[in-house]
Amino acid sequence: RDKLLFSYKGILYPVSFCSPEVFRSMESLEARSDDIILAGYPKSGTNWVGQILSDLVAIFEKKTQNKESSENDENLEEFPYLEMGDTEKYERMNKLPSRRVIFTHLLPENLPRSIFKNKAKILLLLRNPKDVATSFYHFSNGISTLPSYETWDDFFVAFMTKKMAWGCYFEYLSKWNKHAADENIMTITYEELKENPVLGVKNIAAFFGIPLTEKELQSVVERCSFQSMKKNSQKTHGAFGNILFRKGGVSDWKNLFSEDQNEKMDKAFEEHMRGTKLGAKLKY
Ligand code: PPS
Repeated sequence: RDKLLFSYKGILYPVSFCSPEVFRSMESLEARSDDIILAGYPKSGTNWVGQILSDLVAIFEKKTQNKESSENDENLEEFPYLEMGDTEKYERMNKLPSRRVIFTHLLPENLPRSIFKNKAKILLLLRNPKDVATSFYHFSNGISTLPSYETWDDFFVAFMTKKMAWGCYFEYLSKWNKHAADENIMTITYEELKENPVLGVKNIAAFFGIPLTEKELQSVVERCSFQSMKKNSQKTHGAFGNILFRKGGVSDWKNLFSEDQNEKMDKAFEEHMRGTKLGAKLKY
């Protein structure tokens, strides 16, 4: 277990995806005001909302630059996760044309300062902590690059005691809560997007200044539905797709949590989030 994760500034990360050298070179990223930053704790629906954002950018580019996405564009792309890659990643990213879509699981204090300084817009994606834990448990046991857990109870203890890759979810929420009222940040929950994807996509597009026709809106919603992303996952994510696109729903936690665990998590949620803006958004 210890070999799979390393600690950087007090937070654990998987050695297979991240490194201290890459973290140190990240500060050289020159963020832009038209960047689209997607921030979310692991398993909050990053790939889903990331697909929505990429589709919106494709629509935007087609309109503003008369640009059709083509095979050549692939060369211009970087793996979208900010903190995963090599030390030259940021140099390459600095040369990419706008608009860039960048995903991150990092705490706000660990992001390159230029993101806040240059007023890049951030979409903060939140998900009910019980479903995050449930999804994270299955994912951890599904891939060899994260620690696996013999039982759900073992995982639960680790999740509640900050032993997770990318840190403790409650700490994540508390830290981001300090930015919840920033004008360059929009928050959206997995649950509200699931309940009303048309409204969710519409609001996201408006926040990033991307005009959409009704037809375009419908096509993004359809292409980004769980069913269609799962169906496409072999192509988009290879073998990893089967593990990533698991259930895609709300309340699967009910199949794992004991009464006691449920109470413990409610209590931790209350302690960390009582009276906060994000806490109110995440009521569950
Ligand atoms: S990761 O590995 O941290 O980047 O994972 P992430 O993409 O953040 O989260 C994975 C969960 O999101 C679900 N998912 C979706 N839900 C609804 N609609 C769509 N289109 C969609 N795509 C992915 C995915 O199934 C994971 O949740 P669980 O509960 O495990 O199914």
